[in-house]
Amino acid sequence: MNDEKYGVLFSDEYQKSLKDQFCYADADPEHGERLFFENSGGSLRLKRAVEIKAAVEEFPDCPERVRGRGYELSHYVSGGTKDILETVFGAKSGSLISELSASQTMFNAVGTIMLGAGWGTNAVTSSLEHPSAHDAVEHYCQRTGREFRVVPANKETGGLDVDTIMEYVDKDTVLLSIMAASNISGNIMDIKEIVRRAKEINPEIYIVSDAVQHAPHCAIDVEDWGVDVSNFAPYKFFGVRGCGFCYVSDRVSALPHHKLTHKDNSIWQLGTPTPGNFAAMMAVIDYVCEIGAHFIESTNRRELYVEGMRRIHLQERALLYRLLEGTDEVPGLRHIDKAEVYVDMEDLTYKDLIVAMGIKGIEFSDLSQKYLEHGITVFERLNTSPYSKRIVESLGLEGAIRVSPLHCHGRDDIDKFLIATKEIADNV
Ligand SMILES: Cc1ncc(COP(=O)(O)O)c(C=O)c1O
Repeated sequence: MNDEKYGVLFSDEYQKSLKDQFCYADADPEHGERLFFENSGGSLRLKRAVEIKAAVEEFPDCPERVRGRGYELSHYVSGGTKDILETVFGAKSGSLISELSASQTMFNAVGTIMLGAGWGTNAVTSSLEHPSAHDAVEHYCQRTGREFRVVPANKETGGLDVDTIMEYVDKDTVLLSIMAASNISGNIMDIKEIVRRAKEINPEIYIVSDAVQHAPHCAIDVEDWGVDVSNFAPYKFFGVRGCGFCYVSDRVSALPHHKLTHKDNSIWQLGTPTPGNFAAMMAVIDYVCEIGAHFIESTNRRELYVEGMRRIHLQERALLYRLLEGTDEVPGLRHIDKAEVYVDMEDLTYKDLIVAMGIKGIEFSDLSQKYLEHGITVFERLNTSPYSKRIVESLGLEGAIRVSPLHCHGRDDIDKFLIATKEIADNV
């Protein structure tokens, strides 16, 4: 079997050892056994991330002191900042913005560019973006009197075509914001090619890529992509809620931005940082590096991380293939009568493990409820929600059930989901 095309499963034993490292992976303590297939809404949490966050929170010391416990706590912030920039973003320079959410980092970075760059008459984003990326561009276009341009999605593939994006970019485009992967269709965008083509049109353009949905599935590489801004949310990435992290290039930090007067341009942090959030993210990075070390020998943390994410990606592609095609024992979503996979595509190398689906004859909310009754947590993304209306409609849909397992799930979990789907579909 072709690894690239169909992915590669972890051994069952290894997969189970990974799942054991997550909190409540198979059951909720009050609600009982359940399959958590809603990782796009907030992923399963690593025990060690939750534990270190709680442990660090127990200390009252200011994490900006030069001695004692406060000094130790300061290392989570300085070490974590370096680790997130270098290991997660693959950055060789640039700075980190941290806020309470990824959305806040997006507004901060986009606002800085749109208010600070004294040129350009338009800015471009896409109809597939999460509101935080889309609305940030719209908001600052309105405030700066620039034309707001929105690239439509490809309704067939569920993605964005590079040629179409380029029809919207010109030499007066100050900023282009395109997400790394869709939180509804799971499509991965060809950011590197988008950047290359956009810079051919306008070498000075600022490029932003929301990686919130892509980060838990694949390594980010801001250097290779050539972007100025990229962000992710730890709560969607095996970590904790209450923070968002964002890479900004040095040329973005050189623009006027909210900062303390006597601090360097590279320090975007306002007020006292939260060491527990950085400690929790470092625990997530350790976990991914350990997966890398299971397969290769290296002392280079970024190299281990990239290998870890590559293995996660291959495991997830194999799970995705099984989810769509099934096995001799249980049919996949593509083969269950009345089940529909939206914006399905043959080439799974352009998909993260997120499937938009439905069952003919059942309302999406009723279907989510039925899944819950079968012990499966999924979520409906509908055109009645301000978070998903524009996105699902741009894909030609009224809504979809979003199915988002995680790399630590196994073949048995996928099969359980397929058996439940067939049972629900057979009883419509
Ligand atoms: C693609 C994408 N971007 C941004 C966000 C916003 O993240 P946060 O809730 O941390 O602001 C989400 C959340 O669902 C998302 O899916």
